This record gives sequence, structure tokens and C-alpha cells, in this order.
Amino acid sequence: MAARVVTVAFEGVDARRVDVEAQLTGGEFAFIVVGLGDKAVGESRERVRAAFMGLGLAMPGKRIIVNLAPADLPKVGSHYDLPIALAVMAAMGVIAPDSLSGWAAVGELSLDGRIVQTAGALPASVAAGGMDLGLICPEACGPEAAWAGETRVLAAPSLIALVNHFRGTQMLSPPRPGPMREAERGPDLREVKGQENAKRALEIAAAGGHNLAFMGPPGSGKSMMAARLPGLLPPLTPEELLETSMVHSVAGLIAKGELTRARPFRAPHHSASMAALTGGGLKAKPGEVSLAHNGVLFLDELPEFSAQALDSLRQPLETGEVIVARANAHVRYPARVQLVAAMNP
Ligand SMILES: Nc1ncnc2c1ncn2[C@@H]1O[C@H](COP(=O)(O)OP(=O)(O)O)[C@@H](O)[C@H]1O
Ligand SMILES: [Mg+2]
Repeated sequence: MAARVVTVAFEGVDARRVDVEAQLTGGEFAFIVVGLGDKAVGESRERVRAAFMGLGLAMPGKRIIVNLAPADLPKVGSHYDLPIALAVMAAMGVIAPDSLSGWAAVGELSLDGRIVQTAGALPASVAAGGMDLGLICPEACGPEAAWAGETRVLAAPSLIALVNHFRGTQMLSPPRPGPMREAERGPDLREVKGQENAKRALEIAAAGGHNLAFMGPPGSGKSMMAARLPGLLPPLTPEELLETSMVHSVAGLIAKGELTRARPFRAPHHSASMAALTGGGLKAKPGEVSLAHNGVLFLDELPEFSAQALDSLRQPLETGEVIVARANAHVRYPARVQLVAAMNP
């Protein structure tokens, strides 16, 4: 009999449904995971085996096949550990298979069976709610996942706690959303002496959402003024807060479920690569221009950035989103920013 557990694959800030099916068949012991997983997914088998041992649970002496469907969607990351372990446990009869039918699960396992934090709990929770499912996630991700509002969240510290919950011996209580940091007053424009024209330009740029370039000799207060732009901008609207937090969640930047209403201010160094600025790399992570979504991207010493890096910003600045190429897919991230540049003449 095949047991099924739902999880998600991240495509930018979208989380797409993935079904994890586990089946035990006769024959020699084998533990096989198929379905276009990356290296982390392949290694998941070892973590699941070790976590089962930690629970005192022997793997059945059969052929265990785990299928990640749809097979043509690339599966990247370590958050497949938990759904794979749950599907295998359900196939073994350790957990009643139908007790998992209302849930999606994400989480990485440690060798002793603890469920470790993974990135993307917020989009996973939003996606689970969209599928009319609750979300099972690591305890550390609970406050973040709970921000999705409607979605039921089960935040478990370990595999054993989850088994006990589903057996009804020890129920887990639902997590509360993490704290909300209000847009506190950052550095104040009042501290800038003189420079009336530049200050006026900064205020106009803040009011109209314009891009801005400062040109002037070293020490004239360009960096100082740029850092004071977020303080002039209004706090994020609830919709913007969700968009920006989704990007930060996928990047693993939300600590303890704390969201902030302050607009992001990102100031990448001029040695930053194109991938660091616009996103990319092995896991197609969001770049600085997306981490600054709904906020300010400050490029200090603009001419020192590589021509390639600057060129790569052209498209996101025009369209408000960035398309990152990955081996066999394109990933889209939002990237609506106010660009502030500074340079010496
Ligand atoms: N107009 C100004 N009013 C007050 N302090 C200033 C002003 N201009 C420069 N400073 C001081 O000089 C320091 C260096 O300025 P900075 O903003 O780094 O200059 P730039 O980026 O143009 O090279 C600031 O941290 C600040 O202490
Ligand atoms: Mg400077």
C-alpha cells in the first residue's frame, strides 16, 4: 500500500504542491527516492534512516520506494526529509495514513530525530492554506508559519513528538505568530547639516518613489543621506509586508518568526557579483534587488560595480521583478525597489 504526504517545492516565492508517496514492496531491503530530487534530497535517505534509529524504529526489511510527484518538477532543498519520513512511517503503519491527509509537511531531520529549521516556512504555510491543508513544520519555524493566518500549523520539535501527537498521547499546541517590529525611527535627516539641495532631492525622491543618484566629493554626506531615506518612507502596507516577508523567508532571513514593517534597506558592496545582486547560484536564491523589494537598494561607489552587475539590474528596475535562470527552470522574484546610487565625481 502506498502512503501519501503533501509537501511543496519552491519556485521563487511560490510554493508548488509535491506529493510524497511511499510504498513497501517485497524483496531485499532497499531505500530508494525517485522524482528529480537534488543532492540534498538524495541524502535525505540517510537522515531519515538515522532519525528512525534514534526513535528505536527499525526500517522494514523490504524495498522502500519513495516517489516525489510531479516527476518533472525539480526538488531542491532539505525540507523533504520530514514528508519522506512521515510517508514511510505511514506506509509502515506507525502513523495512521489518514491522519496525515489534512496536512502538508516541511522540515529537515537531524540524525537524532529532531526536526530542524528550514527556509520558506511562510510561503509553505500560505500554499498549504491555499490547498485547504494545515502545515507541519519545525518548532523553530512555527511563529513564522503562523503569520499565514488561516492555515493550521503544527510545529513539532522532533519526529517522536509528532508520532505522539498523531497517536493522541501528547498533543502539540498551535504556535503563535512571532513578534512584529514596527518601523522604528532610523537615523534622522535632521542630523545632516547644510546640503539643503541634496536633502530636498532626497525628500522629493521619498515622496514620489524616484530613483536618485548623489554625486559629490568623499565625506560630503552621500552615504549618510542615503541611509536616512527609509526613515522618510511610510511603513510597509500589510500587502507589501507579506510580499517582502515571503522573499526574506525563502532566503532564510526571518529569525524567530519576527516580521518588520520597516522598509528594507540593502547596501551591497561594490564587489558583489551578478548572482548576489539579482539572485541565482545553485539554489536560485533571491538577490539583493529582491531582498530590497518594497524598499531601498543603495549602491555606494556606483562606478566600482562591474558593468555586468549593473547591466543585470536594468531588467528588474524596469519591470519590478527579476527572472533568475536555473538549470532547468526560470524562477521569478519580485524586485520593486527605489535605487539610490552614490559616486565621486
Ligand atoms: N552634511 C553633513 N552633516 C553632518 N555630518 C556630515 C555631513 N557630511 C559628512 N558628515 C560626516 O562625515 C561622515 C562621512 O560622510 P559620508 O556620508 O560617509 O560621506 P560620503 O559618502 O559622501 O563620502 C558622516 O558619517 C558624518 O559624520
Ligand atoms: Mg560614502
